[in-house]
Amino acid sequence: MDRHRAPGQLGHEGGGAGVTLDDFRPGPLDRDETFYVAGHRGLVGSAIWRRLERAGFRGLVGLPSAELDLTDRAAVFDFFAETRPRYVAVAAAKVGGILANSTYPQEFLSENLQIQVNVMDAALATRVERLLFLGSSCIYPRLAPQPITEDALLTGPLEETNDAYAIAKIAGIMQVQAIRREYGLPWISAMPTNLYGPGDNFSPQGSHVLPALIRRYDEARAAGASHVTNWGTGSPRREFLHVDDMADACLHLLENYDGPQQVNVGTGTDVTIRELAEIVAAAVGFDGDTLWDASKPDGTPQKLLDVSKLADAGWRARIGLPDGIRSTVEWFRAHQGTEAMSPIRGI
Ligand SMILES: NC(=O)c1ccc[n+]([C@@H]2O[C@H](COP(=O)([O-])OP(=O)(O)OC[C@H]3O[C@@H](n4cnc5c(N)ncnc54)[C@H](OP(=O)(O)O)[C@@H]3O)[C@@H](O)[C@H]2O)c1
Repeated sequence: MDRHRAPGQLGHEGGGAGVTLDDFRPGPLDRDETFYVAGHRGLVGSAIWRRLERAGFRGLVGLPSAELDLTDRAAVFDFFAETRPRYVAVAAAKVGGILANSTYPQEFLSENLQIQVNVMDAALATRVERLLFLGSSCIYPRLAPQPITEDALLTGPLEETNDAYAIAKIAGIMQVQAIRREYGLPWISAMPTNLYGPGDNFSPQGSHVLPALIRRYDEARAAGASHVTNWGTGSPRREFLHVDDMADACLHLLENYDGPQQVNVGTGTDVTIRELAEIVAAAVGFDGDTLWDASKPDGTPQKLLDVSKLADAGWRARIGLPDGIRSTVEWFRAHQGTEAMSPIRGI
């Protein structure tokens, strides 16, 4: 049997109009094949890389943006033609918090569209067998019923602060579906909830709520401050998934799931921002007070993904929030002031 082809799987020469997905069954990926992790230095990409290394993958490929700018279409096609990966995880993206997203919608729309279209077009041209496209829970309508199921996609208006980014990600899901339909390649998409962990962006301008809180509380502890003031009332509920769990889910989906619909990836449980702040304060050892500036906006009251589809595929999160935050604080302290902490991923 062709060494490249497990039973029921498409080979490199597979795909092309007319190939159907009916016979495809996901199964273990071949550890000796080339696996390209786009964005392998980012929060998610680096976790996927670690997980794949741990699983014994020997053909991992990744390039920093300084060496391969994924907005450079010709360079991306050359890279795929030379490397010919069999598997791809698309974890490269321009990512940022609310401020960055609402200040630079053109960059978030244009760069993300370019990155994902170039990668997926080149992956199609070289008939990549399994590709995982990563989006985000912001693809769902602002007022989607909670917890948010995959069916909520395109049922209502988006949150305005990151609608440009969300539209780019929705286009990515569509491209995966279109390639499945037209070319029969068993590519899939996953939509993670809020992620955190080693490799996160802790820069004051570009970071998300959890790394921002870790930095704020740790700086307050170091300065001997009596209190920390956070924006809003602390009452909104949010879900957080450790990035190592996320990476584990990515490999699990690649080996166990096939279908056109995007799969939500989360824990299925949420906490209030106030509870989150308490966990962070305990993790960094800050014993002062926390004040809430209710004159600042709270954002949407709840954002929780329904993870039934992921559970049906046989996966659930394992890293609890207090443990995950403790180890993230350790990483933050160990890397403060180093290149890993530079705001390369923020704006
Ligand atoms: N973080 C979250 O909470 C979260 C939640 C849900 C979904 N996601 C999704 O997960 C994916 C990755 O996010 P992340 O948090 O890991 O982002 P990140 O830490 O900012 O990493 C993004 C990566 O993309 C690469 N990249 C950006 N522009 C590039 C370009 N023009 N050419 C080549 N590489 C480029 C960067 O490469 P260099 O480092 O080499 O510049 C970086 O490694 C995104 O699709 C995001 O939507 C993230």
